Amino acid sequence: MARIDYVGHATFFLTTDDGTRIAVDPFYDENPLTDLTVESVGHVDYVFVTHGHFDHFADAIPLARRTGATLVGTFEIVSFAQTKGIENAHPMHIGGSWRFPFGRVKLTPAIHGGSVAGDDAGAYSTFPAGLLFDLGDGQRVYDAGDTALTMDMQLLRGQVDVALLPIGDNFTMGPEDAARAVEFIEPKVVVPIHYGTWPFVDTDPDAFARLVGERARVEIVRPGESFEF
Ligand code: NI
Ligand code: MN
Repeated sequence: MARIDYVGHATFFLTTDDGTRIAVDPFYDENPLTDLTVESVGHVDYVFVTHGHFDHFADAIPLARRTGATLVGTFEIVSFAQTKGIENAHPMHIGGSWRFPFGRVKLTPAIHGGSVAGDDAGAYSTFPAGLLFDLGDGQRVYDAGDTALTMDMQLLRGQVDVALLPIGDNFTMGPEDAARAVEFIEPKVVVPIHYGTWPFVDTDPDAFARLVGERARVEIVRPGESFEF
């Protein structure tokens, strides 16, 4: 079994069958939905980031530094991290995939802002991404990242078992567009994320579940809870 431990907002850990622990969009210390900190999250093998905004990237460099985990993201984000002394890093870019020891990962397009928190000169602005983890049959996980609804999501049909979709509206898809994304992608299971953190993203996951209806199983995983698949 693989497992998602949902921290809250867009932050979670993905633990694979072989015990690899992956931190996605690490945002702990300033995250209102968790008491976890960079110091308390324990061992991780990889740190994946979808984009450079602080609510996804704030703790990526400190976590990679503390654990020695390999930091993975777009070329620009990884280049920025390397200027901060991160040595274990793997640059990728939109549309590309790579076979890691635990499975294959592809970066997918996301429509969103590209600035990188901490890069005050703006030299490392980049394209935001989604993440498509292929951990094996029945364990294909798509994290859309922060994005609008896109026609490109139709290309993912038949490739996703578990989809993590932002529903918070304002900065990303809201519940209605995320439900349309479910129509496009046809995942077996959908987990709403990126909501309930602040007033700007305070949407209702139960309303999202009603909009999805019978199209997929909606798993509302609360911060601190886990989901196995
Ligand atoms: Ni963002
Ligand atoms: Mn965000």
